Amino acid sequence: MANVFFVPKFIVSGEGALHMSMDNMKEFGKKALIVTDDMMIKLGNVGKLTDELDGAGIEYAIYSGVNSEPTHTMVNEGIAIYNEGGCDFLIAIGGGSPMDTAKAIGAVITNGGNICDYQGKKLDNELPPIVAIPTTAGTGSEATRVSIIADTDRGIKLLISDIKLLASLAVVDPVFTMTAPPAVTANTGVDALCHAIESYTSNKAFPMSKLFSKAAVKKIFDHLPTAYADGSNVEARREMAEAATQAGIAFSNASVTVIHGMSRPIGALFHVPHGLSNAMLLKVCLPYIREGAEVELYELAKEIGAYNGDNTAEGADAFVAATNELLAKLNIQSPADFGIDKDEFFAQIDKMAHDGLGSGSPANCKNVPTEDQLKEMYKALWD
Ligand SMILES: NC(=O)c1ccc[n+]([C@@H]2O[C@H](COP(=O)([O-])OP(=O)(O)OC[C@H]3O[C@@H](n4cnc5c(N)ncnc54)[C@H](O)[C@@H]3O)[C@@H](O)[C@H]2O)c1
Ligand SMILES: [Fe+2]
Repeated sequence: MANVFFVPKFIVSGEGALHMSMDNMKEFGKKALIVTDDMMIKLGNVGKLTDELDGAGIEYAIYSGVNSEPTHTMVNEGIAIYNEGGCDFLIAIGGGSPMDTAKAIGAVITNGGNICDYQGKKLDNELPPIVAIPTTAGTGSEATRVSIIADTDRGIKLLISDIKLLASLAVVDPVFTMTAPPAVTANTGVDALCHAIESYTSNKAFPMSKLFSKAAVKKIFDHLPTAYADGSNVEARREMAEAATQAGIAFSNASVTVIHGMSRPIGALFHVPHGLSNAMLLKVCLPYIREGAEVELYELAKEIGAYNGDNTAEGADAFVAATNELLAKLNIQSPADFGIDKDEFFAQIDKMAHDGLGSGSPANCKNVPTEDQLKEMYKALWD
């Protein structure tokens, strides 16, 4: 069977990546809309970008109203500033939230209408050039064809997926992740690990996507504990930034599966950040994934050096054990730690299992789960 593989047009990675990207940016246009959040301004990350833009003679306007759950209102505000300012390309700097917002702004700029009508829609027109500068090593949005925006009027999350949403340029410079606090580093790092494991064990995986999944899993096991324990370690930050981009490439091509499918309803109902809800679920979902993907987990165990033999069951067990050890080092919050009430959670399990299965992601597992199996995994979060 043939497979299409796609990546952003340019990926510039490593220390100094932003500076090296300026020649590309000059070709994208004369005035950029910078899409970001207030924290990025406060931490000086936007200042680092605007210094480079000033040096390159590129004008800019700034929209900094994005918070950790991008909404259709933020997209509309960004579009207004883009049009009023006469901008001709977009630069997103921040975590997945500003990057997804910039993609949605770009989609509406050239395709018209309202972002709320974009669920499941294919985009007819190319977007203005988008530069994506991640400041978390997590979502991989800089390398994916996905944008997730909350339509707060209807209380739903719009999942827009189209190859035209790929950034023109991803700038993966570890300097921007250095300021991420330990909990953000842990949660977003495990989000990237979920992208890598789910895409590797997905029934849509193919040799090219698996290369990226595998490379990301290895880097995350090698470097996430250090990035978490010592955020000033540049090597760990660089390797994690690259791993997140690799994992983004992998899942953008081969999809995510049961963890992300179950994670979205927890995020929607209990406002748990995306990375954290995935991190909570990894431990309870991995034994389930193992049942359908023993060989794949055995291969990953060999890749990370957790198993050297040739027994697939033992190897898969070793990978599950190594993942649990990693999670323990990262002090991932449980639903109770996060402040969720157990009775309220249990009252929502039927809905979450229904919505989670309905998202389509669990169907990408080699062993497609039933609604009852999702319910059991939601319950196991409290064991
Ligand atoms: N498009 C995709 O492919 C894709 C994939 C997964 C998730 N997502 C989306 O991404 C969003 C989550 O993104 P995220 O996990 O990167 O978090 P985020 O962008 O929501 O940021 C989380 C918090 O961390 C802060 N932060 C970010 N970088 C920092 C830094 N370097 N230093 C200090 N603080 C920093 C932000 O200010 C914010 O308060 C969700 O909306 C999710 O739906 C998109
Ligand atoms: Fe994710």
